[in-house]
Amino acid sequence: MTRRAVLAGSGVVAIGAGTAVILGAGTRGSVGAKAGQNELVLEAGKTLASLMGERLPQVPVWGYNGLVPGPEIRVRQGQPLKALLKNNLDEGTTIHWHGLRVPNAMDGVPHLTQDPVEPGQAFLYEFTPADAGTFWYHPHQRSFEQVGRGLYGPLIIEEADSPRVDRDITWVLDDWRMSDSGQISGGFGSRHDAMMAGRIGNTITINAKPPKPLEVRPNERIRLRLVNSANARIFGLDFSDIEPVIIALDGQPVEPHTPSSPLLLGPAMRVDLILDLTEASATRHEIRDVFYSGLEYSLNELVYAGTPMRSAPLQHAVSLSPNPLAEPNFANSDRHEIRFGGGMMGMMSGRKSGSGMMSGGMMGWTVNGVSATGHVHDPIITTPQGRTLVLDMINDTAWWHPIHLHGHSFRVLSRNGNPTQYREWQDTVLMSPQERVEIAFVADNPGDWMFHCHILEHQAAGMVATIRVN
Ligand code: C2O
Ligand code: CU
Repeated sequence: MTRRAVLAGSGVVAIGAGTAVILGAGTRGSVGAKAGQNELVLEAGKTLASLMGERLPQVPVWGYNGLVPGPEIRVRQGQPLKALLKNNLDEGTTIHWHGLRVPNAMDGVPHLTQDPVEPGQAFLYEFTPADAGTFWYHPHQRSFEQVGRGLYGPLIIEEADSPRVDRDITWVLDDWRMSDSGQISGGFGSRHDAMMAGRIGNTITINAKPPKPLEVRPNERIRLRLVNSANARIFGLDFSDIEPVIIALDGQPVEPHTPSSPLLLGPAMRVDLILDLTEASATRHEIRDVFYSGLEYSLNELVYAGTPMRSAPLQHAVSLSPNPLAEPNFANSDRHEIRFGGGMMGMMSGRKSGSGMMSGGMMGWTVNGVSATGHVHDPIITTPQGRTLVLDMINDTAWWHPIHLHGHSFRVLSRNGNPTQYREWQDTVLMSPQERVEIAFVADNPGDWMFHCHILEHQAAGMVATIRVN
């Protein structure tokens, strides 16, 4: 069964007479839906999830509206969305709409763009998504624990003219660190995790359930939206004999192309794939995650079942219309070098500057030599609105870092000096150890914007900065 079918069984709410469908939000009767308006309520609270499968006891998690992932929100591009966050947790929280170019006050960064929403309190988010694509939402308060315990959900902004597919399926990929007793292990934000690869889990889920083979029909075309909601795990997907076509990265259309294998998906990143299941003779396709050498495993399988969908695969074009993003203008640009440092390597090779030391005498992660805490800092860049920024980013560490910018999407121009083939738009770019990546964007959204590593333990341990657009 697809996730959508699962949700259908538990209550689907259609809002706005065909202009928007917000799936699953009604499972607790908590939707503040008014006809003609895309309104929903997201209640953050403790709940249970079948992380280990239906046959094992449910696991205490944190979720939205009792669900992990939270309800899949679907809105048409250009339609306003209102989401009322209600906090039933024992601690403050916010919602960040990852990848969406929202007004700064709606960005959900505690202390920087709003006060944390305290227990028992509510906050109304209101914005109109300019870009269509696959996005997601999650807290920005103590996110290493709040996201790690299950607070996240997919956010789909639908194109006016989607490519024709038979099914549109979202897989939110996550991993969990489970104890022997079948509970989520404590130790969130531990120093050990923070200074190494982050909190990597031992239990993989798709939509917070153990992966279950997906039944497909010969000559079926599927749009598969992948979201990496893990705190720290990087997925490196090997599709074996399926040839997926990437049509969007981080929600933004890209020239359709077959990925190099494995397809890397760092924390917070998304990819939209078109799968043409033409292999009539095959009975199944395996999707393996081969990122960590020695720890490769089978993520899931596609299994042929039923009669062919049609006699030949669909031939319709799969490319998406571009979103209204401003093109970088290199004639009116400023270039900044951004150096990411710290971690175990930094410790062993001796410290480069005193500013990287945390109070405990432990080296943290740094951006331009500063290991920042919290969400309010002196900006590393202050720019007038409308200027193009070129960021020359250097990963001066022995670790991978998915670097995320709020409020903007950027073009990835080059890697280690080599121009990228697709100049893809991203909001999170995965940097390998020692890699140098050049990105560019028009700083057209005013406000103070977070710029941080999306390995949530790295963010908490200092790999965070602010870019100010005046
Ligand atoms: Cu997905 Cu600053 O966050
Ligand atoms: Cu990092």
